[in-house]
Amino acid sequence: MPEKYLETKIRHESQSVWILINRPEKLNTITVRIADEIIMALDECSQDREVRAVVLSGVGENFSAGADINQFNGISTDAAIAFHRKLNDLVLKLRSFPKPVIALLHGYALGGGLEISESADFRIATETCTLGQPEVDIGINAGAGGNVVLPRLIGYGKAMYLALTGSKITAAKALEMGLVDAVVPDSSAESFVRELIGKISEKPYDTVSTIKDVMVSSMNSGVPAGLEYEATAFGRLLSTEETRKRISGFISKHSHDSRAPRHQ
Ligand code: COA
Repeated sequence: MPEKYLETKIRHESQSVWILINRPEKLNTITVRIADEIIMALDECSQDREVRAVVLSGVGENFSAGADINQFNGISTDAAIAFHRKLNDLVLKLRSFPKPVIALLHGYALGGGLEISESADFRIATETCTLGQPEVDIGINAGAGGNVVLPRLIGYGKAMYLALTGSKITAAKALEMGLVDAVVPDSSAESFVRELIGKISEKPYDTVSTIKDVMVSSMNSGVPAGLEYEATAFGRLLSTEETRKRISGFISKHSHDSRAPRHQ
């Protein structure tokens, strides 16, 4: 049977699946196959309630140096559009995926690599990570939402700065710009991510999934429709057994506490 995962490596942990881009000798540059394999790995665990989060990272020294530029040499317009559409499929999959996706960025996180991670729910960068959208230097525009998701993430001016200058920035600068959510020492990056997953895993599965769904949907739909969707999601969660159990547990604990003297 042919190997399913050739350019990614899939690691199963107790509460998470780690999808690792696996072309270290090519700086983990992105190919259509990588996009397909990430989509396949997401599909395989999307309904597994034991899997509380997915981590996206890279084997070796780098997250990814972006799309593999070799594939653009002499490429036709149609093939170029098809490549971008494949990345679109991937980022739409990440955004609709019913659990949090954490991108752990290290080494180079450039171009298409960084842009895919912009559709993860969290970006954690190691202290030595270098980030940027340098496509402008070779005369192309970013893909995977680098002109679409990025301004929503960090604001128009900062997104324009990164896209138009192609600047490669440090993790500290990325944190200051809001491009990443945390910067951690290289040596403790994985344990930081596991700790985050541990905290999320204490929360009810359907609630976590609903919160992501409402937040992502509201970014697509705007405030009025988002508020309505938020209200219906609230109604739906209140009818789940887990939420009812947690609410009655809270009330019975606190009504018991209220009979005890508060402060002596
Ligand atoms: N696509 C294809 N090959 C790439 C690549 C990419 N995106 N990025 C790096 N490489 C290759 C280089 O061609 C080189 O290959 P070689 O050893 O066969 O010559 C190798 O990776 C190492 O790159 P090099 O530039 O020699 O190393 P460096 O440490 O000086 O710089 C980078 C590393 C990533 C900063 C630099 O290569 C770079 O800017 N790459 C382009 C990034 C980019 O524009 N990404 C968006 C693409 S759309």
